Amino acid sequence: MAHSAVGSNEQYNYDIVKKFAIAALIWGVAGMTTGVWIASELTWPFLNFDIANITFGRLRPVHTSGVIFGFGGNALFATSYYVVQRTCQTRLWGGTFWPNFTFWGWNIAILVAGIGYTFGITQGREYAEPEWYVDIAIAIVWVTYFLIFTMTIIRRNQPHIYVANWFYLAFILATALLHIFNNLAMPVSLTGIKSYSLFAGAQDAMTQWWYGHNAVGFFLTAAFLGMMYYFVPKQAGRPVYSYRLSIVHFWALGFMYMWVGTHHLHWTAIPDWTSSLAAAFSILLLMPSWGGMINGIMTLSGAWNKLRTDPIMMFMITALSFYGMSTFEGPMMALKSVNALSHYTDWTVGHVHSGALGWVAMISIASFYHMIPRLWNTTLYSMKLVKIHFFLATIGTLLYITSMWVSGIGQGMQLREFDEFGNLANTFISTVEFMHYPLMARAIGGMFFVAGMLLMVYNVYMTIRSAKQEDQVAATVIAKA
Ligand code: HEM
Ligand code: HEM
Repeated sequence: MAHSAVGSNEQYNYDIVKKFAIAALIWGVAGMTTGVWIASELTWPFLNFDIANITFGRLRPVHTSGVIFGFGGNALFATSYYVVQRTCQTRLWGGTFWPNFTFWGWNIAILVAGIGYTFGITQGREYAEPEWYVDIAIAIVWVTYFLIFTMTIIRRNQPHIYVANWFYLAFILATALLHIFNNLAMPVSLTGIKSYSLFAGAQDAMTQWWYGHNAVGFFLTAAFLGMMYYFVPKQAGRPVYSYRLSIVHFWALGFMYMWVGTHHLHWTAIPDWTSSLAAAFSILLLMPSWGGMINGIMTLSGAWNKLRTDPIMMFMITALSFYGMSTFEGPMMALKSVNALSHYTDWTVGHVHSGALGWVAMISIASFYHMIPRLWNTTLYSMKLVKIHFFLATIGTLLYITSMWVSGIGQGMQLREFDEFGNLANTFISTVEFMHYPLMARAIGGMFFVAGMLLMVYNVYMTIRSAKQEDQVAATVIAKA
């Protein structure tokens, strides 16, 4: 990367990046706290308090939308707007109005959707729960985002389009396609809130999981790889290990993800060959996924000493390790025989969170610790707090994943145990009783993770506050002179 100067607010539009970054932190705390709450509801069901609006079923999509779209989405808007400006050495396209439009549009849409879930307003499609009116709003915001991003690239002052932008662009484009096609629906009336999907039966399931897995592939993976490709080399002070590998695994990843959706539907009414195709592509997907992990980890080689001293780097290497681990576990779970055990159990939930907490959240946290002081042109308030955050996040993630292995694999094994007459050896309820302590450990793991996020919010708040005080001192000095 050719640019090393710290950009200023006049040169780049940093205001919008700051807004998205702060929103990401707020959604992060809110969404993860909801995660802890629903985890606790599963452990201690009295916490449902017989109030329909806060039961597990209603709050679960509040959690998933809050963390994926609120925390993850805002983090991606923030970093993509930052990275595209810096790597293209040009100001964000769209003046102040259009980037702000994406900010308010996106956040209001998630808020409206989230409030709706607590009242039972949902399409019942996982990760695509909002009803048609929110879907239309999101589509408009997303097309604007696409325009802002591509126009900024077109107006770049650099001959080259840095690889991070390729990943962000793939994410923006794919998300638009997925969102629009999966949400094709007919409202019951123009004044009503209910709609019905245009697809039915097995096609409906396949469209939904084409969407669902590519949301994982492009939203939760490709986009965060874009983040990784900018912030890891920056923090390590080293170039990307292999630029060629980054391009090869980019195209391979984009091509292969599109085929794997039906591994979510093994052993169901879909045609068997679609299931086998998805399993085969899932195994192949290990290669481009590990291409990205290896490229990230090798970029750190030569800067290993920093791993002992720099907690931001600790977050990065841990994020890459979890990325590698979850993309190894995923292909294994895509095998039909393994899926027969893992599906419908907490093993899936553990896999999700090794990607979500270990990879998505940790790489975002690291990138924010790098970016936020630069946005406010200052240094981080406390590196010690970052280090404590790192340990809280790592312990939290490990508690989460290991408890889900015990709960998921344990339940799966019990449900396939037969007695000498061929009857099921265990009742369903006895498997649920067995899960009580692992579920408790998961809730505690979540509390660790949220505690770390709260420390981060405090650290960021103090960083911004001291930056403002420094500005005030500088202004007074200038005024006196
Ligand atoms: C404090 C941290 C977190 C806690 C305690 C937590 C807890 C939970 C719980 C209890 C569930 C419901 C599991 C079930 O249905 O049995 C869940 C689902 C989910 N969470 Fe989290 N979560 C956390 C963070 C995150 C983050 C940061 C993300 C994404 C970036 C995320 C993404 C998801 C997804 C995608 C699901 C649905 C999983 C599935 O359908 O298999 N979570 N979470
Ligand atoms: C090579 C990469 C990967 C493959 C092949 C893969 C494969 C799988 C498989 C087979 C399932 C279980 C499907 C089921 O039984 O219902 C699953 C679930 C899931 N995975 Fe992965 N995975 C990969 C990477 C990741 C990563 C990196 C993340 C997150 C950042 C992630 C997020 C999820 C989510 C959210 C679900 C739960 C979907 C649901 O049921 O709601 N996966 N994945």
